[in-house]
Amino acid sequence: PTAKRIEELLAKMTLEEKVGQLNFVVGDLFNTGPTVRTSESDVFNEAIKKGEITGIFNIHGAAYVGKLQKLAVEQSRLGIPLLIGADVIHGFKTVFPIPLAEAASWDMAAIEKGARVAGKESAASGINLTFAPMVDIARDARWGRTAEGAGEDPYLGSLIAAARVRGFQGKDLSDPLTIAACVKHFVAYGAAEGGRDYNTVDISEYELRNTYLPPFKAALDAGSASIMSSFNELNGIPATANMKVMRDILRDEWGYTGVVISDWQNIMEMTEHGYTRDNAHAGELAIKAGTDMDMMAEIYLKELPKLVKTGKLDVKYIDESVRRVLWLKYKLGLFDNPYRYSNVRNEKKEVRSKENLQAAFEVAQRSIVLLKNENNLLPLTNSTKKIAVIGPLADNKADMNGTWSFFGEAQHPVSFLEGIKKYAKGAQVTYAQGCELYSDSKAKFNEAVAAAQNADVVIMAIGESAVMNGEGASRAEVALPGVQLDLVKAIHATGKPIIALVSSGRALELSWLDENIPGILATWSLGSEAGNAVGSVLYGAYNPAGKLPVSFPRAVGQLPIYYNQKNTGRPYTGTHAEPGEERVYKSRYRDVPNTALYPFGYGLSYTTFKYDNLKLDKKSFRPGEPLQVSIDVTNTGKYAGEEVVQIYTRDLVGSITRPVKELKKFQKLHFKPGEKKTVTFAINADDLAFWRADLTYGFEPGDFKVFVGPNSRDTQEAAFTLVTEDSI
Ligand code: IFM
Repeated sequence: PTAKRIEELLAKMTLEEKVGQLNFVVGDLFNTGPTVRTSESDVFNEAIKKGEITGIFNIHGAAYVGKLQKLAVEQSRLGIPLLIGADVIHGFKTVFPIPLAEAASWDMAAIEKGARVAGKESAASGINLTFAPMVDIARDARWGRTAEGAGEDPYLGSLIAAARVRGFQGKDLSDPLTIAACVKHFVAYGAAEGGRDYNTVDISEYELRNTYLPPFKAALDAGSASIMSSFNELNGIPATANMKVMRDILRDEWGYTGVVISDWQNIMEMTEHGYTRDNAHAGELAIKAGTDMDMMAEIYLKELPKLVKTGKLDVKYIDESVRRVLWLKYKLGLFDNPYRYSNVRNEKKEVRSKENLQAAFEVAQRSIVLLKNENNLLPLTNSTKKIAVIGPLADNKADMNGTWSFFGEAQHPVSFLEGIKKYAKGAQVTYAQGCELYSDSKAKFNEAVAAAQNADVVIMAIGESAVMNGEGASRAEVALPGVQLDLVKAIHATGKPIIALVSSGRALELSWLDENIPGILATWSLGSEAGNAVGSVLYGAYNPAGKLPVSFPRAVGQLPIYYNQKNTGRPYTGTHAEPGEERVYKSRYRDVPNTALYPFGYGLSYTTFKYDNLKLDKKSFRPGEPLQVSIDVTNTGKYAGEEVVQIYTRDLVGSITRPVKELKKFQKLHFKPGEKKTVTFAINADDLAFWRADLTYGFEPGDFKVFVGPNSRDTQEAAFTLVTEDSI
């Protein structure tokens, strides 16, 4: 029946009304400050009545959206309701940790819950489509958008992509407290050369298929109702008009029937790329490639009718896109009840509810990664009587919301200082800013040093501001900005024990800190409940269990750095610059080791875990009879805690060379003190599949290694063979 209704509607539409359904425009909401604008602008009224826009994005408010829908439904000729989109990236007004932080939880239930709450809150406030999840694989910390994704690994990234889609969309999009997902950015945007945003991407089809496509496929398999095309060119052709990925892979190979939305003016930018002559040419190529909606360029609106009238474009392309957009509106239940997202009572009940804030608190706790804890400096106890809290991110609320947080009002988040005070019962807590986030001034150093001198323990809140991450926020130096490292050195010179809370939207280079500071926590941007989560971790009310979703480099010159690299013909596993060595003909740097400072999957706990007794139930196996890999994991410390037990494999010989390690599975398990568990993983032949030399997908028989451990570096290994009919 929906298909029939769509055809009937399409038959009534003029060409102008059709292209109107493909035209997506932004509202006035690009504000983050406490003085939130109402967004109650009437600039769209005429366009809505004329049917010139399919929807508006980055506006919100149940009542306001209700008014706009009324205009669309009652005053446009065909009464087609509007899509209301928004970048609901990590929460709405209840702000969750940035996606990279959430990824560090390795906890799919928590991540799904985060998206669920974001979906519920924003739907209650009028929004029916989010431009998320962002699933771009990011291996270069210079790229600012690393913050918005799940890190460097395609397997972890795929699980997270699916969890977030499930969270946003719930069981059925017709539930008014769900929103449509838009997985982005298709594709390979994260492979931008030099980590510079919007930059050129040139990668092989193997790399595309084995590394960058899997999270998209996972999100679409989970039902993502839409997908966004990326800004970058891919192998010489802008993604938005790239037939290979947009038609051949997305539509023909994967059979995707959902909506493709362009990114902001990226149809127009094809001319800037040097791929199209002008707007008309760009519009023609984009629609032919199956990019259904034009975000902010108004090229479809203005150019496509002319192209059809002059015979340059078959109207079938426009019809095809309009059908998909109408289908989305039907799926959302907008034709049945255009006001379903406009219930003001619901909005009041949902937005920043106690329950939602509790969920944000729990996810924030799970996102924190303990990087270093020398001599068990942490957790703190109430016997610590004098604490100095120092740093530009200590008494700071707005930056806690992180990048892409249009709706998370700056006055709300709990600062680190507030959170620490709550947990530091009976202790005297003094605060000094020490320096600004990125100025050159050391004028406030003395006050901070004095505070440190008078303390038993110093907690330093340092790192990046929210605007240093996200779109257009690439950095050439991925270190602490401004004079922050100098501040840490000045405080270190007091001899007081320091715990560094390092906030960032990417992996930072923390070599000096690692050598000199006894306690280090990765605290990313944790959202509304940042301070409470950090307080609870510092005082052991929650035992940190986060694991890094990205490799932290020793030096910026190592970038891009990722654990699942290739071996090369001259692998080097030693440390750099052995004494007396002038030149070593190996793949290495003279001045730093190849390895990460903190590897992918790494993260400590207040307790300790022993891994032993790695066993395989057979030495070789065939498809259909999984290999069982088991290991004993024991909590050898005195705290209860969670551990993410990780299993990796290496395919020793492939029709194309294979990575030195690839994450295959993991289990996040809870252990009481002294508890031992035998953790078993089943490895199937399909888990070893990849895109092979002939560009078919499948496994190859032969010898493999398996690695199990608490991260990608500290693993125990064994060998096995995959036997197939071909190999006998
Ligand atoms: O959704 C975003 C996208 O990720 C980057 N450009 C702007 C879009 C809409 O705000």
